[in-house]
Amino acid sequence: MKVASQVRRRSILLKMQKLFRLLAVLAGLGCAAAQTISVELSFSSDAIVVGGFTHGTCSFSTTAAGQTVSAVSWTHNGAELRSGNGITIMTPDFGGLAEGESRLDIDSAAESDAGDYTCIVEFSNPSQSRPADVVQVTVASELVVEAEPEQTAVEGEPAVLLCNVSSNPPPRIRWEDIEDGSERIQEPGDEDFGVYKVSDAVTTSDAGTYRCTGQYSFGVERQEIELVVLTVPVITTEEEEVTVVYTNPLHLSCNATGIKEPTYKWLFEGVEVVGDGGRVEVDREEGSLKIGDPTYDDTGDYTCVAETGAGTDNITHTVAVEGLPEIQLPPGDDVEVAVADNSTVEIKCPFRSLPAPSVTWFKVQSDGKNEEINSLAGGFTYDTGPWLALTV
Ligand SMILES: *[C@@H]1O[C@H](CO)[C@@H](O)[C@H](O)[C@H]1NC(C)=O
Ligand SMILES: *[C@@H]1O[C@H](CO)[C@@H](O)[C@H](O)[C@H]1NC(C)=O
Ligand SMILES: *[C@@H]1O[C@H](CO)[C@@H](O)[C@H](O)[C@H]1NC(C)=O
Ligand SMILES: *[C@@H]1O[C@H](CO)[C@@H](O)[C@H](O)[C@H]1NC(C)=O
Repeated sequence: MKVASQVRRRSILLKMQKLFRLLAVLAGLGCAAAQTISVELSFSSDAIVVGGFTHGTCSFSTTAAGQTVSAVSWTHNGAELRSGNGITIMTPDFGGLAEGESRLDIDSAAESDAGDYTCIVEFSNPSQSRPADVVQVTVASELVVEAEPEQTAVEGEPAVLLCNVSSNPPPRIRWEDIEDGSERIQEPGDEDFGVYKVSDAVTTSDAGTYRCTGQYSFGVERQEIELVVLTVPVITTEEEEVTVVYTNPLHLSCNATGIKEPTYKWLFEGVEVVGDGGRVEVDREEGSLKIGDPTYDDTGDYTCVAETGAGTDNITHTVAVEGLPEIQLPPGDDVEVAVADNSTVEIKCPFRSLPAPSVTWFKVQSDGKNEEINSLAGGFTYDTGPWLALTV
C-alpha cells in the first residue's frame, strides 16, 4: 500500500512537470507569434578604402494578415539619405508587399561616407515604422608611402633614411636592409616613426638598397630606397707646369676618385672659368678644360676643384703661353716724352713675350729713316721687365 501511494504521487509530480514544460513552450510560441515583423540590414563590407564600393541590403518581412510595407528610407548618421553624390538607393514600389528588400550602393566611397547606417521600414497596418539595427561603416583612407628613391649620407657621419607613411587607420612601417636581411618594425606613435637610423658613422659598406613598407588592415605599399654613401674626392692627377705655344690649344685635365662620381670646376687666378662653347670649353663631368687659341692673357694658375657632395679636393696647374712678342701700347699711338736739357729720361715700352725676346730700339731720324740705337753706346741702356725701358 505504502509503495503504491508513493508511485502514484511520483507520477502526479511527473505529469505536473510535463505540464509546466508545455506551458513554457506555449508561452515562448506566443512571443514568437507576436513578432510578425522583421527588418534586417547587412552590408557587403562594413570596412572599405576610399574609392571602394559597398552596398547595404535592407530585408523586411511581416506575417501579419493584411499588413504591407508602405515605404523604406535610409539614414546616415541619423540624417535621411537620398540618391546622388555616389549614393544610389533602390527602393521598389512596396505597395502591397509583405516582404522584400531595398538596396543602398556606395560607389567610390569618400571618407565622409563613414558612419552609422540604418534603414527604416514603414508598415501599413497597423501604421508603424521599424528601424533595422545600425551598421557602422568604416572608410579607411588610402595608404600613402613616399620616400626619395635615392638618399645620401656622408661617410663617417650619421645616416638616416626617411619614408613618409600615412593612412587612417594609422599604419605601421617595416624597414628592411635588403643586403643583410635585417628588419625593424615601427608602430604608429613611435618617436622615430618614418625615420630609420642606419648608422652613427656610416661606411661605404652600409650603402645599398633598403625597403620601407607601410601596412594597415586594408593593404600594403612599399618603396625601395638606395642609400648612397658619399666620400670626399681625391684628385689623382698630378699638378703640372704647362707651357703651350699660342698656336696650339691648351688642354688641362683633372681626374678624381670619390662617391658620387665627382663633378669639376676650374678657376683661373681664383675666378671660375665659364665655358663659352667656343674658345673655352669646360667639361664638368670629365674635368677637362680646353682653350682653343691661348694668348698671353691665358698665362697663370688654373685650379681644378673636384666635388662629390661630401667635400672637395683641388690641384693647381701653372700655365705659360709662348707667343710672338706683343707691344702693349695702344696701336698707332705715339708717346710724347718731355725732357730737360742734360737730364736723363726713361722711355717705357711695355711688352709681353715668351720666351724673352731680343730687343732693338730705333731712333727715327728727321729724314724718316730709322737709326738703330741698340749698341748701348752713347748712354743708352735698356732693361726687360714687364716693359722695356730705354734710358737716354
Ligand atoms: C614627407 O613629409 C614631409 C612633411 O609632411 C614633407 O615635407 C616631405 O616633402 C615629405 N617627403 C616625401 C619624400 O614625400
Ligand atoms: C681618370 O681615371 C679613370 C679611373 O682611374 C681612368 O679610367 C681615366 O682614364 C682617367 N682619365 C684621365 C683623363 O686621366
Ligand atoms: C684647395 O685646397 C686647399 C687645401 O685643402 C684649401 O685650403 C683651398 O681653399 C682649396 N681651394 C679651393 C679653390 O677650393
Ligand atoms: C751736363 O752735365 C755734366 C755733368 O753734370 C756737365 O759736366 C756738363 O757741363 C753739362 N753740360 C751742359 C751743356 O750743361
